[in-house]
Amino acid sequence: NDTSDEDCDYLFKTILIGDSSVGKSNLLSRFAKDEFYLDSKPTIGVEFAYRNTKVGEKIVKAQIWDTAGQERFRAITSSYYRGALGAMLVYDITRNGTFESIKKWLHQLREFGDDDMVIVLVGNKSDLVDLREVDTEDGKKLAEIEKLCFMETSAKENLNVEDAFLQMITKIY
Ligand code: GTP
Ligand code: MG
Repeated sequence: NDTSDEDCDYLFKTILIGDSSVGKSNLLSRFAKDEFYLDSKPTIGVEFAYRNTKVGEKIVKAQIWDTAGQERFRAITSSYYRGALGAMLVYDITRNGTFESIKKWLHQLREFGDDDMVIVLVGNKSDLVDLREVDTEDGKKLAEIEKLCFMETSAKENLNVEDAFLQMITKIY
């Protein structure tokens, strides 16, 4: 049973945030179900998925809230931050604007989220090498300044997706 809390030792709430179309929902479907959708629709409000992972001897169930990136949902998405122990802050390496938005998302996280939240900065769509607008070094630098973990991923090619989520979950634990 996917939603029962009885088969795990710990239940962690985590959230995915970032501009629309950066690939949050596909990162989650890749991690939770190993699925990828070329023509996924924008998320309305929020959706959930769960996945169990083993950390040492313990089973950790991550409850992952996938929020809408579209501006019109901004007022409600910030209300989902409460109680989240981890956040994945996602941008699209082929669109510089989504990277520039990271500061704004961080501000929201720090305003509405818990102080000790583990935050992983994720540059998604690393498969689109010819369309890259954000250098890996710039992602790394920002992560260092803001004291975040950092990873580039491709939900499409399944690169580093598992690692990014596991890094967050292990760090919370
Ligand atoms: P909102 O729900 O509106 O906030 O968007 P989102 O961040 O959830 O984006 P979503 O996962 O729906 O993906 C948007 C588009 O990007 C879709 O067409 C996906 O197929 C595509 N996409 C997502 N991840 C990748 C990736 O790693 N590589 C490539 N090439 N395309 C991707
Ligand atoms: Mg989505």
